[in-house]
Amino acid sequence: MSRTTVSNNSRDGSAGSGGQNNDIYNYVVLIVDIVVLVIKFWVSIVEEFVKLFVARAEANVSGQFVLITGAGHGMGKEMALQYASLGAKVICWDVNEQTNTQTVKEIKQAGGTAFGYVCNVVKREDVMELAAKVRKDHGFINILVNNAGIMPCHTLLEHTEQETRLMYDINVLGNLWMLQAFLPEMIERNEGSIVALSSCAGLFGLPNLVPYCGTKFAVRGYMSSLAEELRLKNPQTNIKLTTIYPYMIDTGLCKNPRFRFPSLLKLVASKDAAASIILAQRQGLEEASVPRHFLYVEKAGRIIPKKAMRLVNDFLDTYVDTDKK
Ligand SMILES: NC(=O)c1ccc[n+]([C@@H]2O[C@H](COP(=O)([O-])OP(=O)(O)OC[C@H]3O[C@@H](n4cnc5c(N)ncnc54)[C@H](O)[C@@H]3O)[C@@H](O)[C@H]2O)c1
Ligand SMILES: *[C@@H]1O[C@H](CO)[C@@H](O)[C@H](O)[C@H]1NC(C)=O
Repeated sequence: MSRTTVSNNSRDGSAGSGGQNNDIYNYVVLIVDIVVLVIKFWVSIVEEFVKLFVARAEANVSGQFVLITGAGHGMGKEMALQYASLGAKVICWDVNEQTNTQTVKEIKQAGGTAFGYVCNVVKREDVMELAAKVRKDHGFINILVNNAGIMPCHTLLEHTEQETRLMYDINVLGNLWMLQAFLPEMIERNEGSIVALSSCAGLFGLPNLVPYCGTKFAVRGYMSSLAEELRLKNPQTNIKLTTIYPYMIDTGLCKNPRFRFPSLLKLVASKDAAASIILAQRQGLEEASVPRHFLYVEKAGRIIPKKAMRLVNDFLDTYVDTDKK
């Protein structure tokens, strides 16, 4: 702010007296800025590097409210059970009443606290209405997990209009409606955690998943943009954003995985995936893959020319086959 003012002054002042003094002043400010930037830049790189090797503190979620969409099945269900066993109070949302109720029942049987609500995240009005009800019933939601998603798997030309639209509605727009419902209170209190399920299909393209990859790149994109928006609005923001990139998880969503080297890359059990996601959230990581090392390999792979990477991909021959026939 002050820098902008100074440069404006100098522009105004250059016509009259004192312009030269302002110029010198501006150079000094610029040089100081550059020096500070270079120092902070390298300090933060060293800090982040060191953090890779030391255990990070894990936030205490006991007594906190966690809202999970798609809590009736798969990773959503596992996360609900595990958050509850950590002492969190879990608000389960799913479009499927029966499976959602089952999750709530299992949590209660294990001595945990859970509340179930039927919600189709596609319908913005329903999301807003239910969010208001949940806030009234329970108060502030500390942790929001945007998990509900679908994955039709076949070539682009085989995708119907209806399933394509539905996929974008659930995997992308539904997430945004949830944010618009729960973010205002997080901003007001300057606290809270948001977790979003992207995918390895949000890191690189995969055959049979053309529209799905679009939705998962979108998740990565909106989370990354939101982080910047929150940070620029409030440099001291305490709202933590965590984007998750699972590889293939054993939930049934990924119907026909193909592996050449199953011992190297295999289906991860949904229990293990859920534990890994919760850990990433509690550690306040901005990004995490499941398995954890995958993201580093992928980042390194990005600097390698595409042609060379494709040779490696063909060698690994690890894809998802069509769900048709
Ligand atoms: N399973 C994997 O291999 C894998 C890999 C990468 C990313 N993911 C992502 O992780 C998330 C969870 O995947 P999963 O495998 O546990 O899925 P799943 O199919 O096991 O469970 C998804 C749950 O979401 C619910 N749901 C679907 N549409 C909904 C809607 N409109 N409103 C509310 N709830 C709805 C379903 O009823 C179901 O209970 C998804 O976003 C998925 O894209 C999964
Ligand atoms: C976690 O928070 C709960 C509730 O606020 C508190 O009772 C508990 O002692 C805390 N646990 C730790 C390990 O700090």
